Amino acid sequence: MKQNVLREKGVFVTGTDTGVGKTLVAAGIACLLHGSGVDVGVMKPVATGGSKRAFGELVSEDALLMKGAAGSKDDYHLINPVCLPSMMAPVVASKVDRLQVDWDAIWSAYKTLSGRHKHLVVEGIGGLLVPVSEGVYVADMARKMKLPVLIVSRPTLGTINHTLLTIEAAKKRRLRVKGVIFNSTNQGGGTLLADTSKAEIERHSGVPVIANIPYMPSVTSASIATFLKRNINLQDVM
Ligand SMILES: Nc1ncnc2c1ncn2[C@@H]1O[C@H](COP(=O)(O)OP(=O)(O)OP(=O)(O)O)[C@@H](O)[C@H]1O
Ligand SMILES: [Mg+2]
Repeated sequence: MKQNVLREKGVFVTGTDTGVGKTLVAAGIACLLHGSGVDVGVMKPVATGGSKRAFGELVSEDALLMKGAAGSKDDYHLINPVCLPSMMAPVVASKVDRLQVDWDAIWSAYKTLSGRHKHLVVEGIGGLLVPVSEGVYVADMARKMKLPVLIVSRPTLGTINHTLLTIEAAKKRRLRVKGVIFNSTNQGGGTLLADTSKAEIERHSGVPVIANIPYMPSVTSASIATFLKRNINLQDVM
């Protein structure tokens, strides 16, 4: 892949796993920035498991949620240039669906959105070592976008290992890790586990755990934005 000459202007939201809350957290950040008067754009470059047909095509629910949260008027295809039907890692889905990941569409959309907005919130897919196409991982996409990464992880048993593995993979690929955000998608957990995990992750990696978002029964991007507004500085996610 050729390196684009683009400024670092945004964050790339990744996670320790699928289903950790990347979309809600990314949408919450977009909602927070939009509500604070920041011109924010959003992007979900590659989605899989697209099913709902709108505009006569497959669409990604993640992309639609982020678009709404950011108050974005950008064309849907800029926000989500690639959407494959099978809910699998993109490299596998593209084989099963017999569709190519259109990198030209992704880079062209990224260039347009990054030129148009002061700040971009990009959601990856799965975690950093998910293969997007042959020889290209999610981490490579973040690297080429020249964006620092925010890692969403679960504040449950196992998070020290999962989070440190993700940070190590990011550092190995020369990604700047802006911080870790704990997010609870289930009830339970507890503050002792979250507090001690935060301390260990910070001690071993030097990366700050900037928020611990609680389980919210009726979670929305707005409820996450409200929580973040009370608990972090805008600079933590900008
Ligand atoms: N703080 C929270 N409280 C309650 N439920 C949450 C919270 N955060 C996320 N969820 C729920 O957890 C599920 C997974 O969240 P989300 O879709 O954001 O994860 P993801 O990491 O983006 O998943 P994917 O890998 O499929 O893109 C969703 O049903 C979402 O509504
Ligand atoms: Mg998602």
